[in-house]
Amino acid sequence: MKRIFFSGLKGGVGNTTLLANLACALVQAGERVTCIDLDSKNELRLHFAHQWDDLCGWSTLENNTLEKVAFADPDGVKFIPHGYKASTLSEKKQLVSFSQNLILDENEWLLFDVPNYANARSLGLKDDDFFIRTVNCDVSCHSIINQRKLMHNNDDEYFLINRFNSAVDIEVEIARLWRQQLPHMLPVFIHQDEVLKEALAFKNVGYNCAPFSVIKDDFQALISWLKLHFSKVAE
Ligand SMILES: Nc1ncnc2c1ncn2[C@@H]1O[C@H](COP(=O)(O)OP(=O)(O)OP(=O)(O)O)[C@@H](O)[C@H]1O
Ligand SMILES: [Mg+2]
Repeated sequence: MKRIFFSGLKGGVGNTTLLANLACALVQAGERVTCIDLDSKNELRLHFAHQWDDLCGWSTLENNTLEKVAFADPDGVKFIPHGYKASTLSEKKQLVSFSQNLILDENEWLLFDVPNYANARSLGLKDDDFFIRTVNCDVSCHSIINQRKLMHNNDDEYFLINRFNSAVDIEVEIARLWRQQLPHMLPVFIHQDEVLKEALAFKNVGYNCAPFSVIKDDFQALISWLKLHFSKVAE
């Protein structure tokens, strides 16, 4: 089982959108994928053709009968919504631990949408889990990264740039700086593409809606990199 935890460095960097598109890209590449929403905002489901007025999810269950709130979208992405009730960090940690018993296929990908305030330690992650902080190439993220470096050691987190716009000089400069300074910066990134926004109006992901978009190549590159990473971890 390949478990990846996605969390934005700050709000609104496109973390949930990125995860949903990656899930779709993986399924179309022949992989089995389950997504679990750990964020009380309960937004991941919106990308997967879920009924918007269905507010059930793991947070609304009395016990861990997760099958009752497991859905599959038309592409075959399985997902477990958060549900409308707020959840504590310790409940999220419990679900992460429980998720190890959930999937039988050992090659399955498990993608978690994690709220900004959580980290690998607070969720009790294992060494072979992968924690990705989604960032935008802007001065605000640059400042937060530097503050965090001073405050605590986050060696267990990798950074992934989303919404990259190579026509903006400051973004190119910041990306170059991060590549030099941050050992855990992924060498692939996801471009800015309005189709990711528009797709949500169709309860879908941009990856499905724009066959010739540049983000198709971005997500394929991301998948190749992630597969390589997990194959190294398995050695
Ligand atoms: N690569 C991209 N190109 C263009 N727009 C994008 C891209 N990624 C995300 N967006 C848009 O950015 C907005 C925020 O996305 P999203 O809700 O996924 O962010 P988030 O980091 O999960 O936010 P939150 O912190 O509230 O959970 C949405 O309108 C989404 O369509
Ligand atoms: Mg989100």
